[in-house]
Amino acid sequence: MQKLSIRGGTPLSGEVRVAGAKNAALPILAAALLTAAPVRVRNLPRLNDVRTMVRLLERMGVKAEAGAHEVALDARMVAEPFAPYDLVKTMRASILALGPLVARFGEARVSLPGGCAIGERPVDLHIKGLTAMGADISIESGYIHATARRLKGARIFMDTVTVTGTENLMMAACLARGTTVLENAAREPEVADLARCLIAMGARIAGHGSDVITVEGVDALFGVDHVVMPDRIEAGTFLAAAAATRGTVVLTDAPVGALDAVIEKLRAAGAEVDVGSDTVRLAMKGRPRAVGLRTAPHPGFPTDMQAQFIAMNAVAEGTALVTETIFENRFMHVQELRRLGAHIDIEGNTAVVHGVPALAGANVMATDLRASASLVIAGLVAEGETVIDRIYHLDRGYERIEERLGQLGARIERVS
Ligand code: EPZ
Repeated sequence: MQKLSIRGGTPLSGEVRVAGAKNAALPILAAALLTAAPVRVRNLPRLNDVRTMVRLLERMGVKAEAGAHEVALDARMVAEPFAPYDLVKTMRASILALGPLVARFGEARVSLPGGCAIGERPVDLHIKGLTAMGADISIESGYIHATARRLKGARIFMDTVTVTGTENLMMAACLARGTTVLENAAREPEVADLARCLIAMGARIAGHGSDVITVEGVDALFGVDHVVMPDRIEAGTFLAAAAATRGTVVLTDAPVGALDAVIEKLRAAGAEVDVGSDTVRLAMKGRPRAVGLRTAPHPGFPTDMQAQFIAMNAVAEGTALVTETIFENRFMHVQELRRLGAHIDIEGNTAVVHGVPALAGANVMATDLRASASLVIAGLVAEGETVIDRIYHLDRGYERIEERLGQLGARIERVS
């Protein structure tokens, strides 16, 4: 099994381009199921999850022609509106096929996503919303089975802010009869990028980016050629790595408008951050200062950046309180960071991070995607060698990370 070997202690420096956003690409690929017309998606990150989504679509009968960072999709013929367990178990985001399939084909059979390392992650709000739109839903042998002659518009209040729940219902509502109002909707930039793509396909959507989204259903959607937005979590990860290593980096193609909460915390840690029209330059002259944070739905501090900031706080001056409010089990990286000499206490859903002057390299294990990013950051800071096992987690969300960090001067390589 592949591992990453990192020799720490080098301040990152140089320039790196931010890749397309995984969490925008996945729903946008699923949206191809909503139309019989050709769909081209560009600026796709080369990630396992993107490959899995394309395979899932092909499994249903969608024709796909993949290029390096783009794919052409033809969903004229969907032989089977079916998302099998063997694919869904590798990627929960497969649930994003549910809304489009039942909306366009009146039927869908999608494996119920199982448990996840970071939390229980039910999909009850997806099901509740589709039921409100008139779908008949049953769970049989681990599969969600949904049927509807034609969905109808509905007013749906979501008890909890859910990103893929909002995306699933917004896609389904595009082909419903009448108007749907999604209240307490997710405001994540990826939801807005999906809405932009759907509007270019002829959908009538308003309010995306706010917590009330209105969708007026239409009879059919057109084709589209969409460029996926840059990845704000990847961008944030590079910035946190630069701050932790006391480096100076420039991000190009950066999703500047989507990084406010992260940049605010980096500045509070003592970093100089200059924001251009699509660039972000960060310079951290001295040791970072400890910064406390509380994760929240957008525009709050993203839970997908929590682990990376714990790694930065592990070597910061002072003590930081980091509270996780979205997922109930998202501190798996803490035990591994302690192996590198970090001093962190867990009290309920808060990590109390006592900054230490230095970390020391060791063997550690990745447990989920963002946890693995925090181990990479800690390894870049630690003296000596850090070896990270189970990096398949990392490959799900970061394209060729060792090459791009190598570009910034990191001593990092993939080993087996
Ligand atoms: C999306 O997951 C992202 N994934 C996650 O990124 C991200 O952590 C999460 O949003 C929060 O920002 C993709 O976009 C593919 P949620 P999602 O539904 O949509 C509860 C990464 O690292 N909930 O917004 O699955 C749920 O348990 C990944 O790239 C219900 O109770 O997350 C959680 O506590 C990890 N019922 C909260 O809502 C539901 O039906 C938010 O989850 C749905 C969700």
